Amino acid sequence: AFEVELRRSGRTVAVGPDTTVLAAVRAALPGTAYSCEQGFCGTCQQRVLEGEIEHRDDLLTDAERGGTMLMCVSRARGERIVLDL
Ligand code: FES
Repeated sequence: AFEVELRRSGRTVAVGPDTTVLAAVRAALPGTAYSCEQGFCGTCQQRVLEGEIEHRDDLLTDAERGGTMLMCVSRARGERIVLDL
């Protein structure tokens, strides 16, 4: 499990082993955009402010992986990430 801080919203959500960053974020921010939920459409791409990402998609380029993630499939490597939400 790890924590996701939504910095602009001033909220922090927990992501357990059986859920996704997208699901946890949507519980706090229901309007968050998404579509495929399988890491191929790019709709849920989100800017990462802090923390290391375990990228599980095949869509993003290495440059995009430097500062963004696909919230439906990718996860934190450590205990905490910070998103620009
Ligand atoms: Fe399509 Fe995440 S919802 S890549």
